Amino acid sequence: MLAERNVDVPPSEIRKIFNKIIGRTDIFDMTVGIPDFDTPQHIKDAAKQAIDDGYTKYTHNAGYIETREALAKKLKRDNNIKADPETELICTAGGMGALVTAHLVLLNPGDEVIYPDPGFVSHFAHIKLAEGIPVPIQLKKELGFGLTAEDVASKITPKTKMLVLNSPNNPTGGVISNKELKQIAEVCIENDIYVIADEAYEQFRYVEEEPLFIGSLPGMKERTVSIFSFSKTYAMTGWRIAVATGSSKLIGAMTKLQEHIIAMPTTIAQKAAEAAAIGPQDCVVDMLKTFRKRRDLITRGLNSIDGVDLQPPGGAFYVFPDVSAFGIKSYDLVHQILKETSVATIHGTAFGKFGEGFLRLCYAVSTERIEEALSRLDSYLPKIL
Ligand SMILES: Cc1ncc(COP(=O)(O)O)c(C=O)c1O
Repeated sequence: MLAERNVDVPPSEIRKIFNKIIGRTDIFDMTVGIPDFDTPQHIKDAAKQAIDDGYTKYTHNAGYIETREALAKKLKRDNNIKADPETELICTAGGMGALVTAHLVLLNPGDEVIYPDPGFVSHFAHIKLAEGIPVPIQLKKELGFGLTAEDVASKITPKTKMLVLNSPNNPTGGVISNKELKQIAEVCIENDIYVIADEAYEQFRYVEEEPLFIGSLPGMKERTVSIFSFSKTYAMTGWRIAVATGSSKLIGAMTKLQEHIIAMPTTIAQKAAEAAAIGPQDCVVDMLKTFRKRRDLITRGLNSIDGVDLQPPGGAFYVFPDVSAFGIKSYDLVHQILKETSVATIHGTAFGKFGEGFLRLCYAVSTERIEEALSRLDSYLPKIL
């Protein structure tokens, strides 16, 4: 009965674990990437005001023009990307809404797409949904899970249409260095390859280098869709709002498609994003300070456990420790740890085949929860080494 694409698009392995523990209060949940902070007050106030002011009707398919103007200011300020709010950016239903429409407007059946592995679970699913051919590129622990231009070039064939980038990366926390990013851009230009830059963790960086965004590099605007989600930066995962920017041709095609899928993201979320984009940014700075402390805490704690090896991640809010020393498949290890310690983690293979031998732990949770999880892991893991 169901169309073949249902078979091709795999379910999320993360959700399988998450659903298993849902409602259980005895679990130390380190699974899903949901910041534990509340959405900042001024953003919530803007949303309430929007309802009272009657911002409750259909809008342009790309979003309110004043919202797009605010988002264009954010792109200029934070990402060094100049975008015409009339034609070069679109409000979408979360990063996910932008990712799926970008894949659908760019890919023809049989086009090859290079994407990071380990990587965000939906990247593979979106390529399959658009009938592309997924070509995984391994993010290596020895390189801090960054990506080199040489690695990208080695995967290019005459059928390569697109490259998906996600730096800082989910699940590894790896960050691509600015030098490599510039070289990757050159490889894309030379080989006429498009880029989807999934910038979901744009603000979550613990490296010294100034952030650089591939969509801001010369010659890249016309071949890049840069996607900036509000979910993680402003603790707005439930609001479903993001902005995508690129050439007017690409954004025009995404806007046309969005009309037929969701019409536009919720008006209230648009107005909240507008306030987030142009309002005070100290809430982001404060959250990041906390995330940096948690990253240090969990990295130190995991490295002190026999058999666990972890380089401090350069970004995002996940750690991806190497647990291959235990000699147990990461899927089995996750279930064993859950049963014996009540700490819920995700197996590396949920993020692609190159995730074998690793676990993902999300540290967007309280310091107390991190400390308790570490203590439980420390009392259990050495026993099975
Ligand atoms: C790398 C990456 N991209 C995109 C998303 C989707 O985020 P949203 O649709 O909430 O913006 C996530 C969520 O975890 C993610 O980790």
